[in-house]
Amino acid sequence: MGVGAIVGTGIFVLTGVAAAKYAGPGLILSFILAGIASGLAAICYAEFASSVPIAGSAYTYSYASLGELIAWIIGWDLILEYAVGAAAVSIGWAGYFTDLMKSLFGITVPHALTASPFSGGIVNLPAVLIVLILTAILVRGTSESSKFNNIMVGVKLAVILFFIGIGIFHVNPANWHPFLPFGPGGVFSGASIIFFAYIGFDQVSTSAEEARNPSRDLPLGIFLSLIICTVLYILVTGILTGMVSYTKLDVPSPVSHALILQGLNAAGAIISIGALCGLTTVLLVLLYGQSRIFFSMSRDGLLPALFSRIHPRFSTPYLSSILIGVVVAVVAGLTPIDIVAELTNIGTLTAFVLVSAAILVLRRTQPDLRRGFRVPFVPVLPILSIIASLVLIVSLPRVTILRFFVWLAIGLVVYFVYSRRASHLERGNQTT
Ligand code: ALA
Repeated sequence: MGVGAIVGTGIFVLTGVAAAKYAGPGLILSFILAGIASGLAAICYAEFASSVPIAGSAYTYSYASLGELIAWIIGWDLILEYAVGAAAVSIGWAGYFTDLMKSLFGITVPHALTASPFSGGIVNLPAVLIVLILTAILVRGTSESSKFNNIMVGVKLAVILFFIGIGIFHVNPANWHPFLPFGPGGVFSGASIIFFAYIGFDQVSTSAEEARNPSRDLPLGIFLSLIICTVLYILVTGILTGMVSYTKLDVPSPVSHALILQGLNAAGAIISIGALCGLTTVLLVLLYGQSRIFFSMSRDGLLPALFSRIHPRFSTPYLSSILIGVVVAVVAGLTPIDIVAELTNIGTLTAFVLVSAAILVLRRTQPDLRRGFRVPFVPVLPILSIIASLVLIVSLPRVTILRFFVWLAIGLVVYFVYSRRASHLERGNQTT
């Protein structure tokens, strides 16, 4: 489940632009840096997942330890991680779809229908359509689709291994020079972009209520998925930048593009099909996760009751899913990938900072709470986690940081105008 949620647009799409514009072959170091920041946060998530084993991820943890306002801020932040993240993944999906249409059927989808108005198009139609189709599947319920989902995760991993297996024989070490064409600063900027590739391990914690032995299984699931992904990412990045010059990677589908540049057209098409499967699973997970987070927030009274209304036949939070699907589709259709991916990153990194801080707070306020897994070296490790996430935040472009503050400000207005008054805690009838 973790690997299914993690491997997606980050490695299949953003690697290209990050290598071409920010880090060059040194992007490998960026992946290590972002992996360390994610690993430190994952250790903190693991303690929470093993001691507050209820669905809802960072939002639920912070509600339990830091109170309603911080929980609201995290919930608001998670809209960036999940809904805006879903928009970014669907744009990545559209890139591989367009590529495949061309390589397999010779159909060129017009630029006007595959690019946002910011990139000289009208609307990114494939991105809009995939979001709407998956929303319809989620409204009907996921039980039948979970087997399908597992198959797609398998295909995704198979094509990554396929790429590594073929690509390794086409590496030309001369492409790794210069290793840091943009200097050491480029490694940090690259890390702040491809951090996107690590988002999703916290998904494992949303299955807390279904795990057989949550206090052991959740930390194990979180660590294993993160380790597997880090190894795969380092291999793929090394091979990708070794196969072709980093300067040629600024394309929407860099992994298949690299093979095609070597004349391996069939292999490129296989990668595109696998990438489409992989991105579909990530997209499903993000859309699903967003509706479940809204469900928890609505159950606590912070969002209107419609977000927790369940469909009488399908037993899904259908109104919430539809609303999320429509908004994500509009954003995906009209925004370029870098804007949404960077916002997703800053939102998730801020959630990491708050969750790591929450570990410190909870150790003081509830020292006797039963914890299946304990973060070692407290307070050093959570503090390092906070620092690592902050380093990635400040490495993001200024404009992204500015946009994030505007987003937070809107969230605070909503909280003080609506949620605080409507909250069940405020009304004295807390239901969770
Ligand atoms: N980590 C996920 C991806 O790269 C969100 O698509």
